[in-house]
Formats: sequence, structure tokens, C-alpha cells
Amino acid sequence: MKYKIIEISPVSGALGAEVSGVDLSEPVTKKALTEIKSAWLEHQVLFFRDQTLTPDQHVAFTKNFGELQGPGYMPTLDGYPNVYVQEYPGLYGGIVSDVNWHIDASFMEKPLKGAVLYALDVPDVGGDTAWVNLYAAYESLSKPMQKLCASLTAIHDNFHKNLTAVLETYGAKGYEMARKATPPNEHPLVCKHPETGKKCLFYSELLISHFKELTAEENKILKEFLQQHIQKPELYCRFKWENNSIAFWDNRCTAHKGIFDFGQSHRLMHRVAIQGETVPSK
Ligand code: SIN
Repeated sequence: MKYKIIEISPVSGALGAEVSGVDLSEPVTKKALTEIKSAWLEHQVLFFRDQTLTPDQHVAFTKNFGELQGPGYMPTLDGYPNVYVQEYPGLYGGIVSDVNWHIDASFMEKPLKGAVLYALDVPDVGGDTAWVNLYAAYESLSKPMQKLCASLTAIHDNFHKNLTAVLETYGAKGYEMARKATPPNEHPLVCKHPETGKKCLFYSELLISHFKELTAEENKILKEFLQQHIQKPELYCRFKWENNSIAFWDNRCTAHKGIFDFGQSHRLMHRVAIQGETVPSK
């Protein structure tokens, strides 16, 4: 058996596995950590149920996988600069922009390595999250389409879809400041995962404004195609949250989408992310 300490149950044919046999509120042993890391690379997103974590324990678990993302564009928990608070309705007053599929912070030179999202209070129904397997998204394209995609450079822009909202809320000066803090970056559309060496379609629907090499008309058509492609049910898994569930995803080979179908019900999550270590490359 590959795993001796943890147990793994895949949640779909595409990606994702539920992990049991480990209590994440305790320091994780070296052996268990090696197995979790290996399962993470294999299944791309891991789910843990019934974990009761304090913010300190959440931070401690995530630190096992790299340096943590510091405070940035979302509110953090008082006294915990690495714990992002994602609450609806609440700080954002309802639906936020992340309704589209995205790779977290793909507009950065080194996008985040991964993230650990912890559910504190979730609606009885709705508010699932879905992850798409970006290896499979690449592999399921025809060879000529793979070749085309591999020749393209995507511009990832934090404000591509949010421009109007940012201008309305913060004005032109606020926009300039935000722009300086998170300038756009370009990445190849097809990237090699730095650890597995496998190729993936590094497609971040929410954040890609265009492909550098294509005309406006070609961009429109290709983006429509890719948007539909990554939503194919056989490429993604969908997780139903319970309070005290955790999702731990590899941000280098998955994109995800929170499904905002829970009206005004309360949904509170804490998210601790791992800083990017590598520039996406072919
Ligand atoms: C995210 O987009 O970072 C979180 C997704 C979710 O809240 O389901």
C-alpha cells in the first residue's frame, strides 16, 4: 500500500481526494507529512473532515508546505496577518468577483503555491467549491490545439474583470495605487508543474485579459472555447463543505470556483495560502 498512515478516498475521476487518519490540530509527524505531500501532488486537492483548528493551528499546518502569503488584497484576522477572512454576506456585502474559475493570484510573477481553506460556518445547502484539473484540461485537447496553446502567452491582470467596480469604489487614484501594488504579469498558457514535471493548461478565466500573440477577434473566440473547455464536468470535482472541513489545493495545476448559490446565508471561511516559489514556465 502506498499510504501507511493516512487513508485516501478519491472524490471524482478527475481530481481530489478525501484524507482521513490524521488530526491537523496536532503537529503532523514527518512520515504523515511525507504522505500528505505525496497525496497532494497526486490528487491536486485534498479534503479533510471534522478538523477543529484554531488560527494558530491552521497557520502551523500550512507552514509545513512553504512560506505563507502575507496580508494583501483581502481582510485578515486581527493578530493573524496570514489568515484571510472570507465572509459572505459581510465584509464584501454578498457576492464577490471570484465567481469565475481562477488560479489564485495568477497575476503575480510567482502565483501562490497552494492554499488551505477552512470552513467555520457554512450554509446547509449551497456554497460548494469546485476545482478543475489543469493537467487533464491540457491532455484532453487535440494535438494541434495543444500546440497552439503551447505557443501562447497569457496576460494575467487582477483588474481585467473588476476595473469598473474598482473605479466606482475607490476612484481613479485608488485604482492607480491598486494597479501599482498588483501589476499584470504574463505567463505561458501551457506550463510545466515545477515538481511533477507534467504539463498543464495554466488558464485562469477570471484573470486572463488576453493572449499576447492573437488578434482581438482570435482572443475572443479562443477565450470562449477555453472557458467552456475547463467547465467540462469530467475535468472537475465539487466539494460539499461542512463546518470544520478543510480543502488544501495545489494552485500550480488547478483552478477553482466558489459557487455562490446560497443567497444571504452566512458563509465564513479562513484561508491561509503558501507563497509562490517559482515563475510558471514551459
Ligand atoms: C477562493 O476563491 O479563494 C475561495 C473559494 C470559496 O470560497 O469557495
